[in-house]
Amino acid sequence: MLATMPRDGRLESTLAMLADPYRYISSQCRRLGTEAFEARIMLQPTICFSGAQAAAVFYDTDRFRRATAAPEPVRATLFGKVTVQNLDADAHRVRKAMFVDVLNAAAVQSLVQHTSREWHAALSGGTAQPLYELTHCVLTRAVCRWAGVPLSREEAPRRQGQLVALFDDAARNVASHFRARTARGQAERWLAGVIDNVRAGRYTPPADSVLAAVARHRDADGQAMPSHVAAAELLNVLRPVVAVSVYIVFVAHALAMHPACTRRLADGDRRFKLAFVQEIRRHYPFFPAVVARATRDFEWNGLRIERGRRALLDLYGTNHDPRTWDMPERFDPARFLDRALGPFDLVPQGGADVRTHHRCPGEDVTTALMSLFTDHLLRSEVIPGDTELDWRRLPALPRGRILVKARAGIRQAGLADLGMGAA
Ligand code: HEM
Repeated sequence: MLATMPRDGRLESTLAMLADPYRYISSQCRRLGTEAFEARIMLQPTICFSGAQAAAVFYDTDRFRRATAAPEPVRATLFGKVTVQNLDADAHRVRKAMFVDVLNAAAVQSLVQHTSREWHAALSGGTAQPLYELTHCVLTRAVCRWAGVPLSREEAPRRQGQLVALFDDAARNVASHFRARTARGQAERWLAGVIDNVRAGRYTPPADSVLAAVARHRDADGQAMPSHVAAAELLNVLRPVVAVSVYIVFVAHALAMHPACTRRLADGDRRFKLAFVQEIRRHYPFFPAVVARATRDFEWNGLRIERGRRALLDLYGTNHDPRTWDMPERFDPARFLDRALGPFDLVPQGGADVRTHHRCPGEDVTTALMSLFTDHLLRSEVIPGDTELDWRRLPALPRGRILVKARAGIRQAGLADLGMGAA
């Protein structure tokens, strides 16, 4: 006997979701006593899922696909219309392998080294600077140099603005959304030109660079990607590396809010540092949800899901689900010290297997950069402003700017301290 799908009774729930984007799905699930309910979101009936068990069905590629799932405003800004996020089956697997391959362990180490050098250059001078904006600058320069994308000193601020707009402006308000659309057009044209130059032999990036890999990649049909597609995929690496700036702000926030953690980190406890980084990814908000579409009619947990129905998986709520996490609202890195993680427990960057599913291929890059900045911020003076989080902002950030400056008499972590040889 099938139960009726629980519903959020509103005619249209988009405004309710925008009023509390990270907690809307889990609070409705709690209210309705369910792991899945239906709501009208962006004018479409949508099944909202929360929790690790629901994540397992959401990532079942026999039941959900990605093509045509994401709303046009998301594809036009955040991730592009022709990118890996929109592919399924073989087309997805072959394109995804390119990302997994270029983001290998040696490449992650190399990006960390580039970033550390840029940080040293940017922090010198002794004045307090806003951490979020400073890391945009550091990460833009580092990621372009590392990826083999040419970027002159004059061009850097403009390109940095475009990369930041894609994740910081996409969903904040109507005016900023249109800035993000414009930025995507400009950034894709810039990088399509770079890809054309590589393919025509006018510019030769290092053979093992991301740019070279994207330019020569062949899709499942054996064809090279058209330059505008290759450009959008290159952006799929540049943009999220700069977006790690959001997590770097949360590293600084957590250091300021949890002095006991800061003391343990300052003592050089490396295992605790990894746990600290994982807890930041679990505890703090970033992407509220991911989206898919049902491939066929099926039943799940006694509920009927119709073919073609759009579905949202609640990432923030799954990371705070009391069935998976003890006292989920508490910031407690120690919970990661002795814990084996299931594929759907910790999902700030998606779940399931990275090669065969849409899970983010940048998790190692993200945790490595967060670890690097944990070291750097421990050696800097961090001046927090209003520490309350703005939960309506997408992505959420503390209400007050966090400032950072070099601490007098304290040497910044050099590459030797990070186990990477001389700077
Ligand atoms: C800043 C921190 C990051 C967060 C919060 C994040 C989050 C996510 C999420 C939620 C997804 C979608 C998962 C899904 O649809 O199931 C995703 C996909 C993706 N991410 Fe990340 N990500 C981050 C960093 C990175 C980095 C550093 C890179 C590359 C260097 C990257 C590249 C990608 C790509 C290419 C996809 C699409 C994967 C696919 O569709 O198969 N991300 N990320």
